[in-house]
Amino acid sequence: MRNAPYYPDLNSVDADLDLIAEIRRLRDEKRALILAHFYQEPVVQDLADFVGDSLQLAQEAQKAKADVILFCGVHFMAETAKILNPDSTVVLPDLNAGCSLADRCHAEIFREWLNDYPDHVVITYINCSAAVKAISDIICTSSNAVRVVNSVPSDKRIVFAPDRHLGRWIAGQTGREMALYPGFCIVHEQFTTRRIAALKAKYPEAKLIVHPECDASVTAMADFTGSTAGMLKFVTGNQAKAFLIGTETGILHQMRKLRPDAELIPIPVDSGCSYSLCPYMKLNTLEKIYLALRDLKPEIVMDEALRQKALKPLKRMLSLN
Ligand code: 13P
Ligand code: SF4
Repeated sequence: MRNAPYYPDLNSVDADLDLIAEIRRLRDEKRALILAHFYQEPVVQDLADFVGDSLQLAQEAQKAKADVILFCGVHFMAETAKILNPDSTVVLPDLNAGCSLADRCHAEIFREWLNDYPDHVVITYINCSAAVKAISDIICTSSNAVRVVNSVPSDKRIVFAPDRHLGRWIAGQTGREMALYPGFCIVHEQFTTRRIAALKAKYPEAKLIVHPECDASVTAMADFTGSTAGMLKFVTGNQAKAFLIGTETGILHQMRKLRPDAELIPIPVDSGCSYSLCPYMKLNTLEKIYLALRDLKPEIVMDEALRQKALKPLKRMLSLN
């Protein structure tokens, strides 16, 4: 079963409505759980019952007993919640909230690519569709990728998909050679060493922290490379007074709460001052969140046989944590 095209009727939202109050009211009425990724707008993060990185959100989804899960993130995250909670109604405010990694790794092409790597263990980043998960051996996130790779016996060969940068970074951390699928994130690929060098000259004391989806030349300069939750932990625990942040700027909202004393400097992605925004994550507006809760649409629907297949490698990952 596939999700039918659906676009929320934004004109049906009364202009005078207090959207935040209405969303809270509907959440209680429908016994809904609101999950949000760190890349959501601050107002969305503050509305959520739980805010986290991909791993924490998958774990939270695993524990969920809610009738409704409203996922303020991107499609593969909501799909993961559905795989783990088949009896809950899982809604994503905008079905167009994709991910450049997931959308450019079609299951058919991936299957063909895997033909060149028989007898390899297939480790797939959670940023992929349910159909790709279904043909993988084990899933990982940027938080637990090192642990997942280390769980594979050393005599086994590994393929890693779909993010080549994350794969290359994990290969460096674990010393394991891996065949890498050539995917990339359109957001993290925009960080350049030129722009970072200019910022380092301006803020010599600042620590550079980046996400492993960045290019090797960028991670090579970093004081810390890790998932969004890892970056948050680093900023909280480090004595430095300034940090250069190499990921989507949504993360700054939680960082500011935890380190109000520190200067948090997002790395610009062009010669002006445009910061790194994930166009998919930012599709979840308050209006669409309200409509999703009001109408319980668009709902994530999934064929049960596919769900069962995708569940296996996900469970394997979750059992390692
Ligand atoms: P995290 O694993 O840090 O949540 O990252 C997910 C993601 O999409 C990064 O672009
Ligand atoms: Fe996908 Fe990149 Fe957006 Fe993360 S930031 S959801 S990897 S497009």
